[in-house]
Amino acid sequence: MSLRNLLADRVSIAMQAAGIPSECQPHVAPSKNPSFGDYQANGAMGAAKLMKTNPRALAQAIVDNLNIDDIASKVEIAGPGFINIHLHNDWLGRYTAGLGAGETAKSPQTIVVDYSGPNLAKEMHVGHLRSTIIGDAVVRVLEHLGHTVIRQNHVGDWGTQFGMLIAHLESEMAKGENPTLALKDLEKFYQQAKIRFDNESDFADTAREYVVKLQGGDEKILQLWQQFRDISLTHSEEIYELLNVSLTADNVRGESFYNDDLAPLVTELKQQGLAVTDNGAQVVFLQELANKEGEPSPVIVQKADGGYLYSTTDLAGLRYRANTLNADRILYFIDARQSLHMQQVFTLAKKAGFVADNVSLEHHAFGTMMGSDGKPFKTRTGGTVKLAELISEACERALATVQEKNPELGDDELKAVANKVGIGSVKYADLCKTRTNDYVFNWDSMLSFEGNTGPYLQYAYTRIQSIFRKAGIEAGSLTGDITITEPQEKALALKLAQFNECIEQVALEALPHLLCTYLYDLASLFSTFYEACPILKDGVTADAKNSRLLLSAKVAETLKTGLGLLGIEVMERM
Ligand code: ARG
Repeated sequence: MSLRNLLADRVSIAMQAAGIPSECQPHVAPSKNPSFGDYQANGAMGAAKLMKTNPRALAQAIVDNLNIDDIASKVEIAGPGFINIHLHNDWLGRYTAGLGAGETAKSPQTIVVDYSGPNLAKEMHVGHLRSTIIGDAVVRVLEHLGHTVIRQNHVGDWGTQFGMLIAHLESEMAKGENPTLALKDLEKFYQQAKIRFDNESDFADTAREYVVKLQGGDEKILQLWQQFRDISLTHSEEIYELLNVSLTADNVRGESFYNDDLAPLVTELKQQGLAVTDNGAQVVFLQELANKEGEPSPVIVQKADGGYLYSTTDLAGLRYRANTLNADRILYFIDARQSLHMQQVFTLAKKAGFVADNVSLEHHAFGTMMGSDGKPFKTRTGGTVKLAELISEACERALATVQEKNPELGDDELKAVANKVGIGSVKYADLCKTRTNDYVFNWDSMLSFEGNTGPYLQYAYTRIQSIFRKAGIEAGSLTGDITITEPQEKALALKLAQFNECIEQVALEALPHLLCTYLYDLASLFSTFYEACPILKDGVTADAKNSRLLLSAKVAETLKTGLGLLGIEVMERM
């Protein structure tokens, strides 16, 4: 249990003993200012309002019933009824020393997470980066907390553009071209197919015919499609591997997966009177999402030509996730530009009873990745930046910086370190920003060893490793207690004790930047501690040395775990 929940439980018990109704929350939070204690319980004010009584007197009644002497050295009431809790240094030292890597959620849930979802007709580009990175960090946090996480990679593997791609693949193969080679550069392949589609009428006819055949389940066309899909998926998997993203082939549930459910789904919407014929199409009008003029929001679920849409597939996906995968929560990491679409499918899925009311449907939107010119990030010539190219540039740039910082590293180690730094910096730069904002992509700031960056945190970890190398001690072999005497030790121990509540918050709100801020604060507090509290210098008592090494080991462990949850690796030296 996190420290915050531990305190909240104690305060809750005291509130009940003081006769406060159980719906009143203790509202325990870390204090902003150490002079107000380490934590504050602010629940007395709300409870007093409900009970129409004096908040300070009620706070006093809570404190009178509060059984917390083992944890707190002092409890005082301030202002209108804040309860300030000062932790015992001894207790905090023991608590911090006993912190393990594992923290499990109170009630583990089944959580489906939809992220990455590239369109397989093209190569993965920067447009997929944020969803992939943010989604993967949240997935790792949820799993760490003991939830059952089901990753769903909703790839775009269906739709009209496949007719053109398959027709082009077929003719390339007829020329004796090997399909893997033909599709080596998916981007180029797409462009070639598009040029032919726009300029050769025979080809365009074939492409259109193949779309119909594909949808009709024609064996030969399906086989070509399957070939194209497999090769494109392999490209994505290579990117995931390079990026240290935990998605695998098993997590792919693309649009095509729902083909068989689309017709029954539309029939059901019609039977329920939700879908109506409008200009030949099947449309649901949602009054729930009406605009200012009171006009309902239209969701087309089937086009006049019989074709299904992105919305239809997402509705089928929701029903599968809620009913077959038995999700308690379903999280989507998709660009903010798809917010209306998500609102529509969520509202409709609940209205039609495809998803039970208690299932939490969450679109965790994010902003756009911008270039330094303030426009969406593009190549110098204005094209989309391929992820494969972005990754190799990151690693090359990191190689130069790491080499400059540590010229002693041998070639192999240098390369391994540079890859971790390069990938880590790209991921961290994205994750540390509030997800909902747009953010400016800047190589220099993300690769800097100073400030709130990936390299800074990786470096903080290696610095602690070097302390242990210098001391000739294995971090894991340390025993004994953390004894807190200096304020810097106290601040550091308290921060360590707050790791679990930080990740609980990340899991709840799907906001990885909270974890980044936490790790950055932790590393900064470590620096302050290290300057003020010598460890290996002469004159430091054996007990102080042991305690400070223990604290340092906990910091290293927490940095490693925390960065790991962000999908960022650490190394012993850099
Ligand atoms: N393929 C979509 C795109 O590239 C993203 C899929 C997101 N997931 C979903 N269930 N709609 O925009």
